[in-house]
Amino acid sequence: MNFLATARFPLARRRHALQMAPEGSQCRYPMVAKTIPVEAFDLVVFGATGDLARRKILPGLYRRMTAGQMPHTARVIGLGRSRLEPDDYRRLAAASLREFVVTEDVGGERLDEFLECLDYLPVDVAGDAGWQELGEKLRDDAVRVFYFSVAPSLFGSIAARTVETGLASPDCRIVVEKPFGGDLASARVLNGDLAKCFEERQIYRIDHYLGKETVQNLMALRFGNALFEPVWNAQHVDHVQITVAENLGISGRAEYYDQAGAMRDMVQNHIMQLLCLTAMEPPARFEPDAVRDEKLKIIKALEPVSRRDVVRGRYRAGGGVGSYLEECGNAESSSESFVALKASVANWRWSGTPFYLRTGKRMKSTLSEVVIVFKDPPHWIFGEQIDRRGNVLSIRLQPDEGITMRMTIKDPGPGGMRLTEVPLDMTFAEALGESVKSLPDAYERLIMDVVRGNQTLFMRGDEVEAAWEWVDPVIADWTMAGTMPFDYDPGSSGPEEALFLMHRDNRRWRDL
Ligand code: BG6
Repeated sequence: MNFLATARFPLARRRHALQMAPEGSQCRYPMVAKTIPVEAFDLVVFGATGDLARRKILPGLYRRMTAGQMPHTARVIGLGRSRLEPDDYRRLAAASLREFVVTEDVGGERLDEFLECLDYLPVDVAGDAGWQELGEKLRDDAVRVFYFSVAPSLFGSIAARTVETGLASPDCRIVVEKPFGGDLASARVLNGDLAKCFEERQIYRIDHYLGKETVQNLMALRFGNALFEPVWNAQHVDHVQITVAENLGISGRAEYYDQAGAMRDMVQNHIMQLLCLTAMEPPARFEPDAVRDEKLKIIKALEPVSRRDVVRGRYRAGGGVGSYLEECGNAESSSESFVALKASVANWRWSGTPFYLRTGKRMKSTLSEVVIVFKDPPHWIFGEQIDRRGNVLSIRLQPDEGITMRMTIKDPGPGGMRLTEVPLDMTFAEALGESVKSLPDAYERLIMDVVRGNQTLFMRGDEVEAAWEWVDPVIADWTMAGTMPFDYDPGSSGPEEALFLMHRDNRRWRDL
């Protein structure tokens, strides 16, 4: 091996990275290059006029183009039932960009360049219309991606049509969105339908939480710093809290949400991913299967949740907003808009350290965080009058992304030894300056990863199934017991019963 060459490479990279820092940047740390261009691609978007395409896919691509990452040779071919001309679609896309790209002005030459990459075809996904024309537009020498931005019930038939029509090349990729099934059985059917047409290496299942910068930071923090690993275990960690709270309700997607409830909508996927990244063993390499194997081991190590360890709730009316039942329009609904539960990872590292998970709508604030609560110091030298306090590491995913460590220090001044707490606080926006504001949103990152062929931040089929295998019995138990969710006030921290879940273990939730 040529050690000289490998040793010189990082230096060259660092110089390149430093050159990429924008002039006048307030960064305290050198930025790394973010815009390594990707290869030419043909991205075929089924459901191109739908909400996801308008809110996330098109704005994400536009931002990647203005960042210099999306090549001008890229093509985005929107497909839909509407009989639009390509120019109609470009107008619709421009309107969507103006509405949903909030980080920069949309217009001028950059917009024109982007719109030139767009095309549109009316296609009948179940029939024949449009497929041949689609085939004529696809290039053999470009990365080919089919994005199924449609209801999951169509995944199987669209996958089959792309194969029957000969458009699914051996290296093409497909992108699918959650909900990936509504239980284990339906997830298996979906996986089976896709597996008939594509190999696992071609399937990109999006959980947009994995595309969030701060979620990836969980891995950077754990595996890029030697400091944490020795204490990242049951011997030192008292418990972990994972919270994804939102102050919005369910309006606008009531029908979907009422079928799902918080357990299916958030716990089976986003919260599960956060749990995996927090609890997993260090993978041998930062490579797709190495990472996904470790996540899968965590899901498989989860103990079944007992009835007494889970609380679900739904918001009542209050503070000028309607109740969950009013918003979902189903007076008979038994779905939950809040879940809190105590999970146990039965493995060597975590045995005895509970993971408390909670998520809810219409909560006091919108906040996502992972909090590691360390045990108190094992021996206390300061006397009984001074309380022992453990360290608390909180990783804020949104908003105000950052990391805080609660430390105990001496309360300054005379009067003997008194202790107080201070946060060691790193808010990324302060530490990294303006650059943090222009970081790619989850979809931008994920779509570019599909083009690059990197599956690290996508869920593998067995991971999704294992997550359902854990979640299904909890939901089945609610159905069997015929219990209803507890009510909670909008703008609160959820039902009181969720507080007891912690209090009975002599612990408390962090304030929202
Ligand atoms: C979605 C859920 O997957 O994630 C929504 O279906 C939830 O109910 C959303 O509101 C939260 O995502 P974010 O990125 O706003 O935290």
